[in-house]
Amino acid sequence: MLKVRVINGPNLNLLGVREPGIYGDNTLEGIQNMLREAAPGYGMELDFFQSNHEGAIIDSIHEAFQQGFQGIIINPGAFTHYSYAIRDAVSAVKLPTIEVHLSNIHAREEFRAKSVIAPSCIGQISGLGADSYLAALYALHRKLSK
Ligand code: DQA
Repeated sequence: MLKVRVINGPNLNLLGVREPGIYGDNTLEGIQNMLREAAPGYGMELDFFQSNHEGAIIDSIHEAFQQGFQGIIINPGAFTHYSYAIRDAVSAVKLPTIEVHLSNIHAREEFRAKSVIAPSCIGQISGLGADSYLAALYALHRKLSK
């Protein structure tokens, strides 16, 4: 079984009530349940982490490395656009990481179009709603099975 950590950043704990016109009606728990169900089909075991705090997200990335995880799926929320520290953490642990976004960050405010974290990731999936996470699961499975 491939061990993969799914990390969600600030305000994503409010999914379901937070701007549903942009982020959809799914709660974070709903998305996590969907991923948990899909994971065995990809030979994966998932572990979930959410925090509103930058340092806690960095610690979670370090732990994923120390605990022998094989990959990371991360929605860094607004940290996407300015957290060099999270970017450095992803680069430091060298685990294949996919950045995901529910909304299409390229079709919104200008500041959202830039991710400072994506260059440290193997790829970015944006704009597919909850399916962005499913697509990341598929892509990481393909990457790790090679
Ligand atoms: C987001 C996009 C970010 O710009 C925003 O700050 C979020 C959510 C998304 O999933 O679409 O918190 O990462």
